[in-house]
Amino acid sequence: MPLVPPYIESLRPYEAGRSIEEVQREFGISRVAKLASNENPLGASPCALRAIENNLTKLNLYPNGGLALRQVLAREYDVKVENVIAGSGSEGIMSNIIRTFLCDEDEVLTTEAAFIGFQVLAKSRGVSYRTAPYKDWHYDLPALAKLINERTKIIYLANPNNPTGTIFTRHEFDEFYKHVPERVLIILDEAYFEYAKDNARYPDSMHYRYDNVITLRTFSKIYGLAGVRIGYGFAHDTLIANLLKVKLPFEPSTLAQAAGIAALSDKEFLHRSLELNARGIRFLTDSLRELGFAVAPSEANIVMVDLIDEDRATQMTRTLMEQGVIVRPLKSFGLPRCIRISTGTDEDNERCVGAIQKIANASAVTTGATRS
Ligand SMILES: Cc1ncc(COP(=O)(O)O)c(C=O)c1O
Repeated sequence: MPLVPPYIESLRPYEAGRSIEEVQREFGISRVAKLASNENPLGASPCALRAIENNLTKLNLYPNGGLALRQVLAREYDVKVENVIAGSGSEGIMSNIIRTFLCDEDEVLTTEAAFIGFQVLAKSRGVSYRTAPYKDWHYDLPALAKLINERTKIIYLANPNNPTGTIFTRHEFDEFYKHVPERVLIILDEAYFEYAKDNARYPDSMHYRYDNVITLRTFSKIYGLAGVRIGYGFAHDTLIANLLKVKLPFEPSTLAQAAGIAALSDKEFLHRSLELNARGIRFLTDSLRELGFAVAPSEANIVMVDLIDEDRATQMTRTLMEQGVIVRPLKSFGLPRCIRISTGTDEDNERCVGAIQKIANASAVTTGATRS
């Protein structure tokens, strides 16, 4: 037996986007717009920052495994504490789900080019991993339902989805759910739920609960806390009880938990972040479509642009970086001809569109018809 299992050997490590400092150094530019990692351009919730400061004197003590945050979330969502889990980001919880429920012979199903964090976690477990292609950049839930077999253990659905930004509707999900056996666990990843929740077509999974669905949410996006690593999940007591056996006993950290609790009460920051994002999505989508680019319809804080050709996507990413705009090429996700742009400040969004316009004018980089 080799030391490193073949499914780990063949795994490509997660590639984080380029940092602002790297790009400043490499291209000698002072002003860089980082629109690559779906972060909140307003920074972190001020309430969360105060809570972090207030907890600095408690760092000699072990944290309580997320209990305080679980209690707050249970009250807020009118569920039992036994239905809630907190962890080091929603990816931390995803990692625990994979460790808790998957056996060697099980199979994971999801969409083509799913959120890269999930792809890496699932593939690192060495189980069978199958996908259904997108349909117009949306999950094709009927096609996914057809892939379910007796080995299927976990189905991963992100709604809104990363990298496309698209959603599936309540009706689509309910239809799909009819085909899912009770023994199959659905991970409903709602990392971007706050951005989509006011859309009447969006199914907020906390408005209805199924026993084999685990909902995952995060403070990394709208609350601007990606750097402290805090996320949470809701599920049936039995699922949570088993996850708690596997979770590291002291995650999330004291500061992460305090930040999460405080962020939940920061409605002003939430509101401001939503307004900025809605403006950004409208501006980026409309401007890029006017320039002739195919842009997927987004309900998150990202827009995905299909450049039709891998070389164009690579070239666009590189040239934008030279002009101080960092976007995310999607080759590692499995979409080499696409790029993803996160919303930034109004100024950064304008800078990004201006730079793309310049590139398009210079190289006549255009695409086919705009998808809607
Ligand atoms: C769909 C999706 N799920 C989960 C995450 C990770 O969230 P967290 O920072 O809470 O681990 C991301 C981050 O980009 C994401 O896009």
